[in-house]
Amino acid sequence: MSDLSQLEKETLAAIETANDEAALENVRVAALGKKGSISALVATLGKMSPEERKSEGARINALKDKVAEALGLRKTVLREAALQARLAGETLDVTLPARPAALETGRIHPISQVMDELTAIFADMGFSIAEGPDVETDDFNFTKLNFPPGHPAREMHDTFFFNRKEDGTRKLLRTHTSPVQVRTMLKNPPPLRVICPGRTYRCDSDQTHTPMFHQVEGLVIDRKAHMGHLKWILEEFCKTFFEVPNVKMRFRPSFFPFTEPSAEVDIQCSRKGGEMRFGEGDDWLEILGCGMVHPNVLRNCGLDPDEFQGFAWGMGIDRIAMLKYGMNDLRAFFEADVRWLSHYGFRPLDLPTLAGGLSS
Ligand code: DAH
Repeated sequence: MSDLSQLEKETLAAIETANDEAALENVRVAALGKKGSISALVATLGKMSPEERKSEGARINALKDKVAEALGLRKTVLREAALQARLAGETLDVTLPARPAALETGRIHPISQVMDELTAIFADMGFSIAEGPDVETDDFNFTKLNFPPGHPAREMHDTFFFNRKEDGTRKLLRTHTSPVQVRTMLKNPPPLRVICPGRTYRCDSDQTHTPMFHQVEGLVIDRKAHMGHLKWILEEFCKTFFEVPNVKMRFRPSFFPFTEPSAEVDIQCSRKGGEMRFGEGDDWLEILGCGMVHPNVLRNCGLDPDEFQGFAWGMGIDRIAMLKYGMNDLRAFFEADVRWLSHYGFRPLDLPTLAGGLSS
């Protein structure tokens, strides 16, 4: 057997037995690479006589082509085999049950849920959301709301003050969401229809009071808004929020510096058997303060009280959340106890909507 056919036999055998692409590449380099066995044969052609070159050249080139072709074929086979092995190795069992994800175990805090419920109800009545900062000026929290400096109504708020600055002014943690009324009137021209849910602070702590709590403020300003509209809005709100077909409400005269007249609103409830129910019974429960915006407040916010009028209300969110969902200690709301949260919390995808049922 000539050297050439021996080389051919060996090279083709090496190609056949190469069992991955890397091994095949080694065979290719050993045969056809710069220093490969076949390349070395090609290099000998230069030193041959023309006749020899003619016959040997043809044989060597034929061998080179045959090896190149065999390499190509083997490469395709190996590549396909590698792909099949990978597909087999990386199969995914789509029938495996999903592991509980954050979405399953995490819970929405009842306060957040109630805020979403409020937003859904008032958005449906055409209200938008207004916001203001937790750290407020004395001017917005009190003075512009018609609490004159030194007025005793200021003392009732148990305010957390910051240290005085050099110019003598001091900031405070807002004691109610009413300063957002002022900010809204100063920023936007009437007609206005906004609610302002948010955090509020007072130095107070017991079973139904925490130093940080939540309120939702409502404000309507236009040329003709009156107490009748206010009553209707609050009634609709209570029926929708407490998910009862009817609810009786009672407006009691009251005092707030920023409204005139002012009222506190009680809703009808039953406390029979220690359980609180709405829309029935002959007991009353106070849920909010409200009134017609005081002309001084309108003036302080750049509005002419002869041209514009309106009403406002402020309601404790924590309170109505406790009532609706039967939670009796407010302090537990803010203790971040996961056992409490997994009991009273809401599933993340249970978004409250009017169409889908607020709390179902
Ligand atoms: N800001 C009052 C409070 O925290 C609640 C309130 C009463 C708000 C009457 C109002 C209102 O807008 O008209 O006690």
